[in-house]
Amino acid sequence: QKKLTTTTIRQRKLTNQPITMLTAYDYSFARILDATGVDMLLVGDSLGNVMLGYDSTLPVSMEDMLHHVKAVCRGAQHTLVVADMPFMSYQVSVAEAVANAGRFLKETGAQAVKLEGGQELADTVKAIVNAGIPVVGHLGLTPQHVHQLGGYTVQGKDLTAARKLLTDAKALEESGAFAIVLECVPESLAAKITETIRIPTIGIGAGSQCDGQVLVIHDLLGLTPGNTPKFVKKYANLRQDIAAAVSKYITEVHNKSFPGAEYSFKDAGLELDKLY
Ligand code: KIV
Ligand code: NA
Repeated sequence: QKKLTTTTIRQRKLTNQPITMLTAYDYSFARILDATGVDMLLVGDSLGNVMLGYDSTLPVSMEDMLHHVKAVCRGAQHTLVVADMPFMSYQVSVAEAVANAGRFLKETGAQAVKLEGGQELADTVKAIVNAGIPVVGHLGLTPQHVHQLGGYTVQGKDLTAARKLLTDAKALEESGAFAIVLECVPESLAAKITETIRIPTIGIGAGSQCDGQVLVIHDLLGLTPGNTPKFVKKYANLRQDIAAAVSKYITEVHNKSFPGAEYSFKDAGLELDKLY
């Protein structure tokens, strides 16, 4: 099985085969996820929240992203790795955006970049694509715009907002993006966008009619502390599993049942009384 490409991802829409994407932030998870056959790994700037403990994605830097993308790429043999462009790495100028996007392909082994926005980024997306760098767009709830959106809420709820989302999706397609993440939009609107454009939509909180789905891996596994959004399905409860395993370890160290003989090294019959 060889490395998945953006061409394969595009074709999946035409053949009606749903695309699976998950976030990954480090080598161990990348290894595990790569072996599952998931199609794409997104090194999301959600690593700001998940891995670094920030309360938004805004503080995440290019250096933070490069560090984690490199680790993920070392563990991803088959899956296509997409690197999120952090806040302010593509907004200042088209030239800076191309240079920063280029760093991901040049320095990490990522195969594509993702950025948040639509029509206003058309020139930026075109320039990045013209440099030979595949681009994934991101529309709807775009967390880098949290202060403008006024919170993390469902987008595209009135006709004006819905029309703007459709226009943005078309603009991204025309600019050469090969896929679009749709976050937190009503399922009927996501369906409408999906049937209107020819590139795949990858939904998160966008219903089942998208061409693919993405989730934050820590949410899916039940590793995220506190409440998770409505669209998250927990497929495991690893927080509980980790706590239970560690409690058992603590107990066994306290009562000296760990490490037993099977976890200890025997000597070769040394006369240790001669040791002083
Ligand atoms: O950063 C991220 O994890 C994302 C996904 C939620 C799409 O952008
Ligand atoms: Na992101």
